[in-house]
Amino acid sequence: MKIMKKILSILLVVMMVVGLAACGQEAQPAATGGNGPNPAAPSEPAQKGNDRLVVGFAQIGQESGWRDAETWSILNAAEEMGVDLKFSDGQQKQENQIKAIRSFIQQGVDVIGVAPVVETGWETVFKEAKDAGIPIVLVDRMAAVSDDLYACFIGSDFILEGQNACKEMARLLNNKGNIVELQGTVGASAATDRMKGFAEELKNYPDMKIIASQTGDFTRAKGKEVMEAFLKAHPGEINGVYAHNDDMALGAIEAIKDAGLKPGVDIKIVSIDGVKAIFEAMVAGEANVTVECNPLLGPQFFQVCKDLKEGKQVPKWVKSEEGIYRQETAAEDIKTRKY
Ligand code: AHR
Repeated sequence: MKIMKKILSILLVVMMVVGLAACGQEAQPAATGGNGPNPAAPSEPAQKGNDRLVVGFAQIGQESGWRDAETWSILNAAEEMGVDLKFSDGQQKQENQIKAIRSFIQQGVDVIGVAPVVETGWETVFKEAKDAGIPIVLVDRMAAVSDDLYACFIGSDFILEGQNACKEMARLLNNKGNIVELQGTVGASAATDRMKGFAEELKNYPDMKIIASQTGDFTRAKGKEVMEAFLKAHPGEINGVYAHNDDMALGAIEAIKDAGLKPGVDIKIVSIDGVKAIFEAMVAGEANVTVECNPLLGPQFFQVCKDLKEGKQVPKWVKSEEGIYRQETAAEDIKTRKY
């Protein structure tokens, strides 16, 4: 993951420089922390009718190892498939993503991809894209808009992930115990649906309950912070942690160790994503299960963009196929992990 991060950072810097040179504008100051490029500034309209596929992609930011892997997949697939990609890092802010989409519309791209940081608030800008004749493809997260405002959603079934996480927790706790939940970003479809799926499945286990649930914003640092608070508020009462992503689980593991307890043993850990770092934690006996969520969506994304440009029919949902990985097989599984 370290090498991937390095390659990613280099690619992002190169893209920012190339993008800004093309725009002939200076970089805007960053709205928040993060190392990625700022939302693309408006520039010359792209030449329509150009044979080359021109795609704008409004990424959320760099909050997790999973997101880095997704960005890498998109940059890499664009390169391999010869796509002219305009990439923007929203630095976790919806307003930045909206600005980037407006810029892509002005540049006259063929297709716009967006990973919506939250579900609501997209109607106006998606309508603007529709009026400009530019299809929107939702990548990895959903937006709460009517069907006519987007062409396709590419990504996972987050409700199913939540259900599977609950089944795994029940197996680990022998159907009995207290769980704390680390939620993802409030208002993100990945958080809302993972919470929903887990809660629905939990109804089948009357002796298992969630005693605390709070957002850790999909980051390791906040996952740790929230877990520290949970441990203080419920000393000796927590049997399991359900984290909406691996990064928060990794933060929780640190907090549990700092409290003198054994993660994976005293407190079971179930999370979602399947990044290498959680496999390392499973190999070390400190995490128990990860429910996979595939970030390597680049090739599928550009195939859909290509089909859209050629006027072909595309499915409304391109669903990812995903597995469940347990501590018992982690040492073997880690050898073939791609992210
Ligand atoms: O939308 C997918 C989620 O976003 C991943 O689970 C998480 O790690 C990421 O940041």
